[in-house]
Amino acid sequence: MSRINVSISFDRKLYHQDIAGSKAHADMLHRVGLLTAEECAAIQQGLDQVHQEIEEGRFVFKDEHEDIHMNVEARLRELIGAPAGRLHTARSRNDQIALDFRLWVRDACDQLDGDIRALQAALIDQADTHADAILPGLTHLQPAQPVTFGHHLLAYVEMLGRDRSRFADCRRRLNESPLGAAALAGTPYAIDRQMTARALGFDRPMANSMDAVASRDYAQEFLAAATICGTHLSRFAEEIVLWMSNQYRFIRLSDAFTTGSSIMPQKKNPDAAELVRAKVGRLAGAFTSLTILLKGLALTYSKDMQDDKEPTFEAMETLSLSLAAMTGMVRDLSVNREAMHRAADSGFITATDLADYLVLHLGLPFRDAHHITGALVKLAEDRGCGLADLSDADLAAAHPGLTGDARSWLTVEGSAARRTSEGGTAPDQVRRQIAAARERFL
Ligand code: ARG
Repeated sequence: MSRINVSISFDRKLYHQDIAGSKAHADMLHRVGLLTAEECAAIQQGLDQVHQEIEEGRFVFKDEHEDIHMNVEARLRELIGAPAGRLHTARSRNDQIALDFRLWVRDACDQLDGDIRALQAALIDQADTHADAILPGLTHLQPAQPVTFGHHLLAYVEMLGRDRSRFADCRRRLNESPLGAAALAGTPYAIDRQMTARALGFDRPMANSMDAVASRDYAQEFLAAATICGTHLSRFAEEIVLWMSNQYRFIRLSDAFTTGSSIMPQKKNPDAAELVRAKVGRLAGAFTSLTILLKGLALTYSKDMQDDKEPTFEAMETLSLSLAAMTGMVRDLSVNREAMHRAADSGFITATDLADYLVLHLGLPFRDAHHITGALVKLAEDRGCGLADLSDADLAAAHPGLTGDARSWLTVEGSAARRTSEGGTAPDQVRRQIAAARERFL
């Protein structure tokens, strides 16, 4: 029973939130006349000491006290005696854990906001340095159109911006205090829930005491947001792995972020990126695990809910570490602009530009332009040459109005530079987006 029941091994993580909640609760009990000034002072002092002992690693957590709440209270009793017994007036471990965990998830949202912002800052700096570096933009992993590296990186800045707003939404919605719900039904004592809510930085008390002790949707929401963010990191990590590969050689990571092989001396493996790519599985697993834990649970509290913590804690650690690793890699990476350019300048990547030329200069409907360009691509492919290598006669044969002038539209730089539409890949446009991103995110 003890082995399956005890939670102190992991919920000790909540000591800070637990003690902050108890201090606010004690103040409130005093204010409404349920604790004398002396009792309240003793409790405050005792709780401060417990907090300090834990911070300094001197606190002895005991399985016999089951969880963080009873460990703290037991030590408080050792320290101050009888008044410790009054702290739990008008409170239950049910609203206590609901409070502690909510506060913890709120802190996690705040920390992640900073972690994600740091990655955005690193990306924006790299984007700034390489606003005009050309690389192949892909669809289906096939060369599609030339893009700039700055533009590519800014795509992740946007995704991460939405991740931040998801955590901010989660934080906004969870910021109501469950304290005072007591076991589930409320309490006969004349407590002041507004006061404790305010003291703990909540917007208001939760409206329904049963909801207060039974709900963990804020943790689900947190894990959903973490999973989505992890998905973004995983995609970016995969790109780092690709870009690092011998076939691409678009970027280099220093030894700080790669590992060698115990057998192949030439190896420089992007292990950190591979691990970030993998970690999203744990995040999705945490979300799934909590969701399955909660489904079908009748109101209100059931001990099942004790199992909400480990996946959530683990997910937070995983995501925070992944973000740190990505930030480190982005700051560390050096760009091989020549390799990117070489890769971009192949595979008929400017075929769309030729079609656009036919539309803009000869007034053709895009569908016809697409068809004519397709025929020229086929011709060049058969000849084993590029579009720009086709002769004037070849061009004229495809369409009488098509002259050598069109070749100026076939360079990868030109192709990128012309994409000046809002949000497009042209270096000038990217620099504008960088300035805007700094304003919005940093
Ligand atoms: N350790 C418990 C948890 O994490 C705290 C609440 C326990 N409440 C109870 N009535 N047993 O959920």
